[in-house]
Amino acid sequence: MSRKRTRIISLGADVSIQTLATNAYPDQQPGTSGLRKKVSVFQQSGYLENFVQSIFDVLDGCTGQTIVLGGDGRFYNREAIQIILKMAAANGIGKVLVGQNGILSTPAVSCVIRKYHAFGGIVLSASHNPGGSDGDFGIKYNIGNGGPAPEKITEAVFARSKGITQYKISDAPDININHLGTSRIENMQVEVIDSVADYAEQMQQLFDFDAIRNMFKRGFTMRFDAMSAVGGPYARKIIEDLLGAPRGTVLHGIPLEDFGGHHPDPNPVNAEELIALMDAPNAPDFGAASDGDADRNMIVGRKLPVSPSDSLAILAANATVAPGYKKGITGIARSMPTSTAADRVAKSLGVPCFETPTGWKFFGNLLDTNQATLCGEESYGTSSSHIREKDGLWAVLFWLNLQAATDKSVNTLVAEHWAKFGRNYYSRHDYEGIDTVKANALMDRLRNKLDSLKGQKLGSHVVAMADDFSYTDPVDGSTSSKQGVRIIFTDDARIVFRLSGTGTVGATLRVYLEKYEADPSRHNLPTQTALADLIAIANEIAQIEAVTGMTQPTVIT
Ligand code: G1P
Ligand code: ZN
Repeated sequence: MSRKRTRIISLGADVSIQTLATNAYPDQQPGTSGLRKKVSVFQQSGYLENFVQSIFDVLDGCTGQTIVLGGDGRFYNREAIQIILKMAAANGIGKVLVGQNGILSTPAVSCVIRKYHAFGGIVLSASHNPGGSDGDFGIKYNIGNGGPAPEKITEAVFARSKGITQYKISDAPDININHLGTSRIENMQVEVIDSVADYAEQMQQLFDFDAIRNMFKRGFTMRFDAMSAVGGPYARKIIEDLLGAPRGTVLHGIPLEDFGGHHPDPNPVNAEELIALMDAPNAPDFGAASDGDADRNMIVGRKLPVSPSDSLAILAANATVAPGYKKGITGIARSMPTSTAADRVAKSLGVPCFETPTGWKFFGNLLDTNQATLCGEESYGTSSSHIREKDGLWAVLFWLNLQAATDKSVNTLVAEHWAKFGRNYYSRHDYEGIDTVKANALMDRLRNKLDSLKGQKLGSHVVAMADDFSYTDPVDGSTSSKQGVRIIFTDDARIVFRLSGTGTVGATLRVYLEKYEADPSRHNLPTQTALADLIAIANEIAQIEAVTGMTQPTVIT
């Protein structure tokens, strides 16, 4: 691809804003959470630049404004930070707050945008996707409320990227982002900020740090697996320094460009080291983990990984133990595939429970209008109205606060919750790397069956309704359709099918399985056993094995 360099403005002898010709790429459509591609794709000439220019082109009124910039430290983070700084300067941005060493977790970006009333922010992350030179990279724009840009903006960026012919960039030398302080590129101020400080301050306002500190003093033990990703510096500062947990409480606490080869997705499959620790006879009292950009969390009791759907429900039921939520919650929001455990809590609290499509961006309006206080997704994401992203460490601190306030273990808290509300057995089965054409055909065939399913008996379950989920935002009226095929049975069991919007290779089919059990004597079955009949029904109805040739899912969470 040829690149024509055209210098249009010259400011001084050695620094100038350039307008460079570029060729559009057809594939820059943001998915569930920003644009994610292989590092090698982002390294193509103009690839990152085109996308960044498209963002600046569609943002109305960003001239002279402040934006926040940081990423999860994965391979290509540093290079991308320098490119974006120079492009921001060339596009008339007034000031950039950039995390030291280019590091800001996704929740920290959201926190900083809100605290300093920034115009928006750019997050460099592919979340839990593997890192390293042959791993993934990603970029996402967040708006002034601190949350991911709504589809209206992401679609405009995509449309712009398809027709882009040039981008603007300063040819200033690289900025030193290793030290705190202020410098300039062209007319733009660059302030390198402490990556952790603002976030840590907010956590201290929300949770009872004294009570948690005392619990650690009394000998409470925990392990937090940061999976060699960006959560490490946050967890070490907050859990070890501020809360006084012994050094070594945080495992894999140094962020590495390739996450040390880990797959930084906190679930029992990828965090197997933590799971083994929590299964051992001398297990710590509490285990937790966060993902690549520290917005996901996993909570683990002794021999008990807590399902994220249950975690949301339990936090909602006990929210008032934390100082930040002592007045109670206004409502709960969960993504459609997330189990309905939270709905039962909302009902008992007399607050609404909203069901949104998958992806954090759908929670923004509900949080902004104070209709929901807590929100969560089955994919290890939980958070609240304190920011507009999911927040891994926030959830872990909430669980610490809950244990400190009640003097009860995770296992006891979970068992008591199930005894009161019933248990929603829940599991997600992923079939990764399916041929995209076949995966789309499978979904189409399912959609075509929907009308005939109602009233049918599948195994021992009768279909109450079957549809392709569509959502109308109650605040702005925007509609999102084709958000997942759901089959809901009369006994509240559910099977949901959807294709992943974050993968970078082929298609991933996600099958979500849920069954409600009120009887406490039946609350201790192995999850896959409890769901066995639904698993068989899902395979039968979607013909998964026949289409994919896979007899088992590639990942079960
Ligand atoms: C996945 C999760 C979804 C989450 C997203 C970003 O998206 O399922 O809940 O919001 O990652 O972390 P998916 O790949 O299913 O589109
Ligand atoms: Zn993430």
